[in-house]
Amino acid sequence: MITDLQIIDAIPQVLKTIDIPQLGAKQQGKVRDFYFDNNQRILITTDRQSAFDVILGHIPYKGAVLNQLSAFWFEQCQDIIENHMISVPDANVMIGKNCEGVPVEMIVRGYITGSTKTSIWYSYINGQRTIYGIDFPDGLKKNEKLSQPVITPTTHAEQGGHDERLTREEIISNGLVSEELYSQMEQTALALFEKGSEICEKAGLMLVDTKYEFGLYEGKLIQIDEMHTPDSSRFWIKDTYAERFANNEEPENFDKEFLRLWYAQQGYTGMGNPPEMDQQLIVAVAKRYVEVYEKITGKEFEVFQYPIEERIKENLKKAGIL
Ligand SMILES: Nc1ncnc2c1ncn2[C@@H]1O[C@H](COP(=O)(O)OP(=O)(O)O)[C@@H](O)[C@H]1O
Ligand SMILES: [Mg+2]
Repeated sequence: MITDLQIIDAIPQVLKTIDIPQLGAKQQGKVRDFYFDNNQRILITTDRQSAFDVILGHIPYKGAVLNQLSAFWFEQCQDIIENHMISVPDANVMIGKNCEGVPVEMIVRGYITGSTKTSIWYSYINGQRTIYGIDFPDGLKKNEKLSQPVITPTTHAEQGGHDERLTREEIISNGLVSEELYSQMEQTALALFEKGSEICEKAGLMLVDTKYEFGLYEGKLIQIDEMHTPDSSRFWIKDTYAERFANNEEPENFDKEFLRLWYAQQGYTGMGNPPEMDQQLIVAVAKRYVEVYEKITGKEFEVFQYPIEERIKENLKKAGIL
């Protein structure tokens, strides 16, 4: 198990970004740096921590956790849909098939919860019963299991933008995605969610909600980006859920909600400059990421020495990419 000291030692040298000019112009998402040509996308998962669509700081080992956890899930779920993963030449790097992105993110939710304005709970307590075009019954309680998982799609915003809510009808009538392709995305997202829930349950976790991204590769729908990570999903602890739910207490979470709550306590909800993360928070978040990885995969996380920029370049050389 990773120690507090290993995390604290790594803080000054975390992977914030990586420049590899030989690969062309660096592109950046909130968390990943990437380079691509016509066929491949080299995705380097950094240690950047985002929430509220803002970079809040950096968490040691987070990039490696996200990347390796995604690799685990892509392997587990490739029987449901082909995914972009070609190889993982380094703990922080995935080589993916470079796709034309589908401009809609598929969010699947098994429970009614959340604190942000895009959450269904936010709309529900404000009296709405048709949310994202889906009808919800009266009398639901926060954190209650839905009778079946629902899909709440959003736009995939350009850099710096916020994802906007969509309905199935809007997506199809605006021509963002054809009806045929959208139906395939729906079926796939639900199948992935079901399999993910089963695997999480065996690990003592509940997959509460998650986001999937898809792309088109040689005309075919494939899954891209990341999968069932604490950045793209909410996880709760199974053991304590029922009792807490019955007592109107918040479930024990194992994801970014913990971080959102810390910021909320500081009075920050995403506007303006975020307060700086203190060391205690960084350690707690890093441990959670590592723990989620270990619980889900059943493998011990391999702690490494920072800095890692040179290691990444060496591994890209060995893989014949540099
Ligand atoms: N195989 C792929 N083909 C094309 N685009 C991809 C692929 N995998 C991931 N992406 C895109 O690359 C970017 C990865 O960076 P990330 O930090 O995750 O961005 P974001 O801030 O949108 O979450 C995202 O825009 C994602 O949609
Ligand atoms: Mg992303």
